[in-house]
Amino acid sequence: DRHLLDLERLQAAELFAILSTAEQLKALTDGCRRKISLLSGKTCANLFFENSTRTRNSFSLAAKRLGADTVEFSSAGSSVAKGETFVDTAKTIEAMGVDWVVTRHQTPGTPHLLARELGCSVLNAGDGPHEHPTQGLLDILTILQHRGPRDWQSASLDPSQLLAGMTVAMVGDIAHSRTARSNIWGLKSLGADVIICGPPTLVSPRWEEIGFEVAHRLDDIVERCDVLNLLRIQFERQQTRPFPSVREYAALYAMNGDRMRRAKSDILIMAPGPINRGVEITPEVADGPHSVILEQVTNGIAVRMAALWLLSGASDIAASESNPPR
Ligand code: CP
Repeated sequence: DRHLLDLERLQAAELFAILSTAEQLKALTDGCRRKISLLSGKTCANLFFENSTRTRNSFSLAAKRLGADTVEFSSAGSSVAKGETFVDTAKTIEAMGVDWVVTRHQTPGTPHLLARELGCSVLNAGDGPHEHPTQGLLDILTILQHRGPRDWQSASLDPSQLLAGMTVAMVGDIAHSRTARSNIWGLKSLGADVIICGPPTLVSPRWEEIGFEVAHRLDDIVERCDVLNLLRIQFERQQTRPFPSVREYAALYAMNGDRMRRAKSDILIMAPGPINRGVEITPEVADGPHSVILEQVTNGIAVRMAALWLLSGASDIAASESNPPR
């Protein structure tokens, strides 16, 4: 496919191709810090209609690390205020000569709409509560680096078994979390056992109906998890809040020192961010030795470099690096 819209429809082999390319590009750029010229002459447009710190800046850095130019569009301050539509805005930016459009929008399906309307590649940087595929990829890359088979990049392994035997819980506001959905589909494709944990008001019964384990108390599952991915409760997407309040949520779902003492000794603590200290995670856990939250951020640049690179139609990094496009 020439777009990256979601992880639900990607096969294990396609996920593996992006993840192993990300690892390769991370090494080639000295941990995502050094600039190389694989994509010089190309341009990436970031079209953000919702706020972002991590995704927007790391897409921008990913393009720049590979030598591409970027166009930064925010709906605030743009001609959207004069009535220009989402599609007309995207077509206008595309007409400036861009090769990829990265889009974040509050409405599910908007990247899929652009994929039909534009000639260039479209990457979903988060569409409402639907999916956030590069977040799912960067989370999975972080798990593989810490808990994957030693030779996980080897093409001889079955990608659908890369995370076999690994129990990963997505904890929190599942109903409003695009990160949860992308993780759930990606982790399942790679063979992980996924637990979906959150308040009954924020976890659809559909997950259990289609075969996922659902838990409503973190205390019931914390001892057998290899990885916890702690989601932010998204009050801004809720019309009413019958349950839980922030206080109830913290009591039932926050990863804190007490729950850490009952967890596996090598548990991996993750969060897509932004984190609310004291709500889904306490500072001692967020800043503690099991936390890989900032590694996730760096891996965001790696997977976004890989996505841009693979969608550019190229495949052989070594050959392209010695003879970059002009
Ligand atoms: N995780 C994530 O998507 O963060 P931002 O909203 O800051 O991009």
